[in-house]
Amino acid sequence: MTTTQLNQLSHRIGTINALSKGEVGQNRLVYSPTWISAQQQVINWGLQLGFDVTVDDFGTTYMDIPGTVHPDQIIAAGSHIDTVAQGGRFDGLYGVLGGLQAIENLLESVGRPKKTLRLISFSEEEGSRFPDTFTGSKHYTGQPINLAMTDPNGVSFEDARRNAVAKLKITGVKSGRPELPSTFTELHIEQGPRLIDHHLQIGLVTSIVGQRRFTVTVKGIANHAGTTPMDERADALEMAVTLISDLSQQAHQLDKGLTFTVGEMHISPNTSNVIPGLVTFSIDTRHNNEAVLDQFEQIINQVVERSQDTNIINSVNRWAKSDVTHLDDQLLAANQKIADRLGFSSTQLASGAGHDSQIMAKVTRTTMIFVPSINGISHAPEENTSQEDLLRGVELLTESLHQQAY
Ligand code: GLV
Ligand code: MN
Ligand code: MN
Ligand code: MN
Repeated sequence: MTTTQLNQLSHRIGTINALSKGEVGQNRLVYSPTWISAQQQVINWGLQLGFDVTVDDFGTTYMDIPGTVHPDQIIAAGSHIDTVAQGGRFDGLYGVLGGLQAIENLLESVGRPKKTLRLISFSEEEGSRFPDTFTGSKHYTGQPINLAMTDPNGVSFEDARRNAVAKLKITGVKSGRPELPSTFTELHIEQGPRLIDHHLQIGLVTSIVGQRRFTVTVKGIANHAGTTPMDERADALEMAVTLISDLSQQAHQLDKGLTFTVGEMHISPNTSNVIPGLVTFSIDTRHNNEAVLDQFEQIINQVVERSQDTNIINSVNRWAKSDVTHLDDQLLAANQKIADRLGFSSTQLASGAGHDSQIMAKVTRTTMIFVPSINGISHAPEENTSQEDLLRGVELLTESLHQQAY
């Protein structure tokens, strides 16, 4: 990859990131105005470069360079275009634009592929707006999605989807959901500290953790903060704090590899002189052993159930579950050989973050390539990766696609 190509990749990443200008971090929640502009921009680049572009009814974008010999065999690369709220500049976007760069490199250096090369820009992976995750890749692979689910403002997925996808109907773009690929490769930042701490340049992903997400609802009784005696209150926030502290302790005790995060909380009425009457909070929990997740789910249910009394009603709803996923061994071994040949230091590792690859792996041979995250930071505005590492990831992907499609 040349300096010109690296400059082009950086320019494209900067162009998409500029859409969130003036905000804290990147904000491309699925179907938001910045999301629409970003996906439009990806489509326009694809059209300019001569890709066949198709958009499905969830807004996932497929950009093909048809194969000259086996057009029905599809070698795909890509990632997701959405971000978490106040997210970083590379999560998802690097896999989309790095994939675009890799295909462009191949077209320039070796011409048209024998098999079809496909870039996929998935509509949504983060689960940050609606209560479901990976809706883009789930839809592509035929898993049903609840279209009636709503975001915190009461907007339904169906309404948001329809309005946003209508804006992607650009001249020259086909509508539809294309056939599944023979392989899928996702280039991604590591989002953790292992590569950077060990001064390694590339991570090849063996498996992806299982994760479960829950919403806990605590219903107490809203009342006057000054006149209600302390022993006659049903304070929903006090109860929520006790639950979180109890669960956090149990998570620490259960297994060192288990993660437990409460990242979202809503307090009602959220006013300083009213005892909170209603609190909801999220739980995100992950492990690479399904049995540990089962055990912790039981603990969550028991702790929430047992904590209730006559005035405080607690309930828990699991709204997302994804299983531990093992990625393709052969593709990993092939990428390991390429990394060694290119002289990149590397390791094989499990991913603690969720990825579209875990959905794609259910239907096709799937692999992932990680590059280092500076300070191991991700899902935050400080998310960063050096230019050299961005470049190495794209180089490895380029070689891998070359090996598979030519
Ligand atoms: C998605 O990025 C997740 O791992 O939470
Ligand atoms: Mn991601
Ligand atoms: Mn993410
Ligand atoms: Mn992710």
